[in-house]
Amino acid sequence: MTGTDARNRAAVVTAFGEPLEITEIALREVRAGEVLVRLEYAAVCITDVYASNGSTRSIPPFVTGHAATGIVHEVGPGVRTLAVGDRVSITGTTECGVCDFCLKGTPGACAEVFEQGPRPIGTLPDGREVVVEGGIGAYLQWNVYREGTVVRLSPELDPVQAALFGCGISSGLGAVLSVAEVQTGATVAINGAGHLGLWMLQGARLANASRIIVVEPDPRRRAIAAGLGATDIVDPADGDPVAQVKALTDRGRGVDYSFEAVGTGAAMAQAFAMSRNGGTTVATGMRARGDTVELNVLDFAIRAKRVMSSQTGGGAIHRDIPRWDRLLREGRIDPSPIVSEVFPLDRINDAFAAAVARDVLTGIIDLR
Ligand SMILES: NC(=O)c1ccc[n+]([C@@H]2O[C@H](COP(=O)([O-])OP(=O)(O)OC[C@H]3O[C@@H](n4cnc5c(N)ncnc54)[C@H](O)[C@@H]3O)[C@@H](O)[C@H]2O)c1
Ligand SMILES: [Zn+2]
Ligand SMILES: [Zn+2]
Repeated sequence: MTGTDARNRAAVVTAFGEPLEITEIALREVRAGEVLVRLEYAAVCITDVYASNGSTRSIPPFVTGHAATGIVHEVGPGVRTLAVGDRVSITGTTECGVCDFCLKGTPGACAEVFEQGPRPIGTLPDGREVVVEGGIGAYLQWNVYREGTVVRLSPELDPVQAALFGCGISSGLGAVLSVAEVQTGATVAINGAGHLGLWMLQGARLANASRIIVVEPDPRRRAIAAGLGATDIVDPADGDPVAQVKALTDRGRGVDYSFEAVGTGAAMAQAFAMSRNGGTTVATGMRARGDTVELNVLDFAIRAKRVMSSQTGGGAIHRDIPRWDRLLREGRIDPSPIVSEVFPLDRINDAFAAAVARDVLTGIIDLR
């Protein structure tokens, strides 16, 4: 049997800003270098909501979603690292391993993510071709993926929790441990304690940071951050968050590492402003395509401040997801306060609305 023989229910973006449409997709055949996956669970990331509103480059109809678990059902010619029956992570980026960007040590900029156009995966009942956002697509029951997007997982993991490997876990732990490489004893500030920021917080704990300061306006999320080991919590309503964070650091100089997990240029500038001279800011958020951030030249020219980008935690997914898999099996990271609620596919629009309202941290879509 191939996926094309089975029913393939999917949540499709058919118009920007409209609810996703639950329909069926007739999947195309598996090609060389691809695998067919029967999906189990997909995690909701706010990036999918923004994509469905037109923040990225796909044109409807398309399927969004970029973090899921599933079982490999068929393997195309040339696939070397995956076999039928493997439980896998569908991941928010592709690491092809052979493009210039991957070979130069920057898989987060892999050509398969940024230089290939929309990837057609099949057709809708009305005959229109449907593509996948970012070459991934996870809100459907069956899909075809390039080998570089899929990472084998330990079979004993809970597939609901493991759905977070594809974005929240890899993007958050990777930003701290693989991109910034936070040093033991360092001071850290995390701006935004959502689906992404709470994983940065867990990464900072794994790095043995001495201070982990979390800035978050939502009291429910501040409480979860405190429970996950933040040493200091800042409510922006109590006054300028930059001044509040700096006041918590040695001589008010600012933190060694500052992370932005909010989604605006203003929040990036806020994160940068609370980093010390010579310190590092990692910016990850996005909401509107045209948003920009303005920074002072002296901070670069003479104050030695650094800014880094982190796309899915740097994108070294074949090296890193097995590391995060091990940490989860050993109980050294905790998804339980972050995995908020499991929604059936029919209720995906409720899951999106709950993410926007901050009523859930990471909603999970049941695709079985
Ligand atoms: N680059 C990547 O790899 C990557 C991965 C995942 C998400 N993202 C992006 O990162 C951003 C955060 O994603 P998320 O899923 O955690 O979103 P989220 O909505 O779950 O969390 C964002 C949090 O920021 C808080 N916030 C708002 N204004 C703030 C401020 N001024 N200071 C501090 N906190 C503030 C909100 O209350 C919210 O809790 C989004 O823009 C998303 O698109 C990027
Ligand atoms: Zn994401
Ligand atoms: Zn590549």
